[in-house]
Amino acid sequence: FRTVIEPFRIHSVEPLRMTTAAERRAKAADAAYNLFQLHADDVLIDLLTDSGTGAMSRDQWAAIQRGDESYAGSPSFFVFRDAVQELFPYAHVIPTHQGRAAERILFQVLGGPGKVVPSNTHFDTTRANIEFTGAEAVDLVIAEGRDPQADHPFKGNMDIGRLEALLAERGAEIPVVMMTITNNSGGGQPVSLANLHAVADVCRAAGKPLFLDACRFAENAWFVKTREPGREHDTIPDIIREMAGLADGMTMSAKKDPMGNIGGWLALNDDDLALQCRNLLILTEGFPTYGGLAGRDLEALAQGLKEVVSEDYLRYRIRSTAYLADALVGLGIPCLTPAGGHAVYIDAAALLAHIPALEYPGQALAVALYETGGIRSCEIGSVMFGRQPDGSERPAAMELVRLAIPRRTYTQSHIDYVIEVAERVKAQAPDLPGYRIVDEPPALRHFTAAFAPI
Ligand code: F0G
Repeated sequence: FRTVIEPFRIHSVEPLRMTTAAERRAKAADAAYNLFQLHADDVLIDLLTDSGTGAMSRDQWAAIQRGDESYAGSPSFFVFRDAVQELFPYAHVIPTHQGRAAERILFQVLGGPGKVVPSNTHFDTTRANIEFTGAEAVDLVIAEGRDPQADHPFKGNMDIGRLEALLAERGAEIPVVMMTITNNSGGGQPVSLANLHAVADVCRAAGKPLFLDACRFAENAWFVKTREPGREHDTIPDIIREMAGLADGMTMSAKKDPMGNIGGWLALNDDDLALQCRNLLILTEGFPTYGGLAGRDLEALAQGLKEVVSEDYLRYRIRSTAYLADALVGLGIPCLTPAGGHAVYIDAAALLAHIPALEYPGQALAVALYETGGIRSCEIGSVMFGRQPDGSERPAAMELVRLAIPRRTYTQSHIDYVIEVAERVKAQAPDLPGYRIVDEPPALRHFTAAFAPI
């Protein structure tokens, strides 16, 4: 059949609150045009993030009832650990309350002044956690990965030549190489197994550990299965285990593909490094068998890991993201193509060509989508990445607005509405104002900065 249906039906519903355009304009002004500052019930369709915002399944809610809240050695930990190791067979699995806690712990051990950590593209929290230790974070994605319209099946791939050059030039300063799978900041773009093999070979030759930032591993595996020659007969779990086996460890936000509302983990093979990480874990996250989570959270994640590798789910997931991208492109709205796994990224620099990068075209578009239709999206451009560690400001590589799709949450008619709103915003595009920042914090400014229209 042509129609790829949601492979589930709805079991429990959450009402949406309708608002008028006049109300939304007032709410946007009250939030200083920072959509992170809105009250979520003033949002109609919330595409801010796919992180922790998905719907859990009946079986996950049932698993929550099995949660064992023992402080140490909870059986729920072992259920969780086994579910992680089934896909990522690393010796040590260390739960954390979310992905950035795993990053903070790993880079507190491996980072520090004078160090440099390459990745295809670091996510913003990863970059911030690296820079907070005084180390430098470097992005080495292939050139196609920086061109919104370039046609390439794996735009998340690492530029092997640049990685080799960096290792040759500054090898002594590199404690670890990261690969973000899929490459969120680069458009949710996948990494091929061939590229991951090549990165692993380069790391092994240089004696450097390779870590995956594997938040969207199942979506990446689906792209491998459907786009990489010779992989169409591999099972999703086999592809995931092959990715895992090429690396020495991983940081993970369980709020993405593991279908959790909260959670994360750090997993790795090296016994010494694991010991140092567990010691830091105990300082701020908790005992190593719960790491900042409740036993019930660990149970929900274990069940989520079983569900996310379903081919029916992944076919629907990736198709529904592409459905939105195809419709926007059909309306002449420039998008990052091919569509990524978890989100559609509108190219705000192209749509709002009259707004210079440092007047934040992405912010302008995100505000317009909210004011026009109550859609909350997220700027991924110069607001997020423009401020440099030395205090200067420079334009980001791309000015994107991300429409992230929460897992199993919105239906096709919700998405049809999003398409209609985007069409109306496109008609107003030449009249939309740029923004200036009137107040910002020292790091991760996109969460709390205050804006004013120019
Ligand atoms: N790495 C990647 C690739 C991510 O996308 C995220 C979170 C993290 C690490 C951090 O995980 O939020 O659990 O601490 N991304 C969310 C997003 C916030 O909206 O893309 P966390």
